[in-house]
Amino acid sequence: MTIKNYPWWKDSTVYQIWPASYKDSNGDGIGDIQGIISTLDYLEDLGISVVWLSPHYDSPQDDMGYDISDYESVYHKYGNMDDMNQLIDEVHKRDMKLILDLVINHTSDQHAWFKESKSSLTNPKRDWYIWRKPQYDSKGNRKPPTNWSSIFSGSAWNYDPTTDEYYLCLFAKSQPDLNWENEECRNAIYKSALEFWFKKGIDGFRIDVASMYSKASNSKGKFEDAPIIYPNQEFQPAGELTTNGPRIHEFHKEMFKKITSKYDVMTVGEVGFCSKQEALKYVSHAEKEMNMMFLFNVVCVGYDGDKFDFKGFNLKNFKDAVISQSDFAQGTDAWSTVFIENHDQARSVSRFGNTSTDELWNKSAKLLNMLEISLTGTLYIYQGQEIGMTNLPKNWSIDEYKDIETLNYWAKHKIEHPNDSESDLKLMQNIQITARDHARSPVQWDDSPNGGFTSGKPWMKVNENFTKINVKSQINDSNSILSFYKKSIQLRQLYKKLFIHGDFKILDYENEDLFSFIKSFEDSKSYIVLNFSNKTIPFKPLVDGELELLHTNVDTPEPGVLSPYEGRIYI
Ligand code: GLC
Ligand code: CA
Repeated sequence: MTIKNYPWWKDSTVYQIWPASYKDSNGDGIGDIQGIISTLDYLEDLGISVVWLSPHYDSPQDDMGYDISDYESVYHKYGNMDDMNQLIDEVHKRDMKLILDLVINHTSDQHAWFKESKSSLTNPKRDWYIWRKPQYDSKGNRKPPTNWSSIFSGSAWNYDPTTDEYYLCLFAKSQPDLNWENEECRNAIYKSALEFWFKKGIDGFRIDVASMYSKASNSKGKFEDAPIIYPNQEFQPAGELTTNGPRIHEFHKEMFKKITSKYDVMTVGEVGFCSKQEALKYVSHAEKEMNMMFLFNVVCVGYDGDKFDFKGFNLKNFKDAVISQSDFAQGTDAWSTVFIENHDQARSVSRFGNTSTDELWNKSAKLLNMLEISLTGTLYIYQGQEIGMTNLPKNWSIDEYKDIETLNYWAKHKIEHPNDSESDLKLMQNIQITARDHARSPVQWDDSPNGGFTSGKPWMKVNENFTKINVKSQINDSNSILSFYKKSIQLRQLYKKLFIHGDFKILDYENEDLFSFIKSFEDSKSYIVLNFSNKTIPFKPLVDGELELLHTNVDTPEPGVLSPYEGRIYI
């Protein structure tokens, strides 16, 4: 492989900001753009080169901004257009880039387009959303057009009495799906959601649910029922019928050709799951669709369909997941991503590390970081990950959880299992592992009240462990997770051929405790060994030749053994 003349985004380290919980500048309890600006020096110092800002657009916030009511304006609690212009400038002044979230599978039901579409059967924008007539059962009861379930529980169709039809909403009822079959609608999306911001000088987009724009229908435009997976439930996941659909690649090619290709920008699509073949269609350079994508094998390991019916996993499942997320790109013209957290996933140190003692928390967060900085692709870090923020405390009740996905699921469960404290407890235990809320509690900046996130009352409670886990206490501590991240990012850049671009080969697939692999590029090689267990394990290198220790999460590595959660990167 040669890496001559490759684009800037391959070597980038991206930092995701989820604005509501990042940093509040005016004491209203909600993070904002001025808060972000005040931390840019911190991000620069950490070694971040690209900031990804989750939705900052005007929105009723039913799904925390992923329900957009106007692509061309800023949510007033985050700031205004001047603040956004300033953010773009301030990021660029530091030689960093700014990418935004592109949420164009659906809008909010408060978007002007939907209000028009809904107003009558003959409105010119009627066809910009997906409307269908009701079905009726033998007793004359009105039913949705298909049995598809929403990703946020219940039916994926919502009835609108204005015109006696249902509209499709694969997420919340207030997030109607746009009709990508309509060319006029597509062009309006390109203009309002993409071009408007490109012209302001942003450097790219993270593309929300990028695999779902094209819904499969039969030749007459009729949607079919989804296969029954949960026999005792009314609605069924529409996965295959709504993901990686028949025209999805045509749509991405069109968007790239008409708009994105005109700017020097990066795009990363949230694709989720797909075969190797399908993956290459999205991100092979020759296909001209997007630069890279997020696959969910790692973050969803153990989910098996229903995240709140968590099944657990072992290290082999985890290795499989890591391999499938990057393997598809090796030896091709495609590019991959490396990430273990985002705003839709619980905290990595709680899920894949060990938070039972302070020492193991510190060590296992560093271990996960060593895995990540060794893998090929563009690296993404989620706010708070760099200080080892953890899942919410186990003694928090459901009242402290704010996310629509969690709350809808809980409400449905309570209807289906009234007065069943045993099953409530089981669900609560799963929520404590996998809910999106864990990533959404405010960032812990210091040990002042509310972790320095706000001087007011935070919109969501700050994790009480802020007195121990916060940026201020870690920034000058050479043993901290934060200092470790900083050093790791530097090493990844210093040895970028090996870590960012190299080939990956696993050495110990069957081993249930250790994860060892080789990264290679031309004649250079790196050998990485990570103890994912809480045991001390005898250690004999699996490679020949002289080894030089480049990075480790222990003070003095002992020859012949690996302590619990110890990791070593040799070159
Ligand atoms: C994506 C976002 C998620 C959001 C959903 C609907 O999966 O990451 O936060 O709820 O799309 O827009
Ligand atoms: Ca604020």
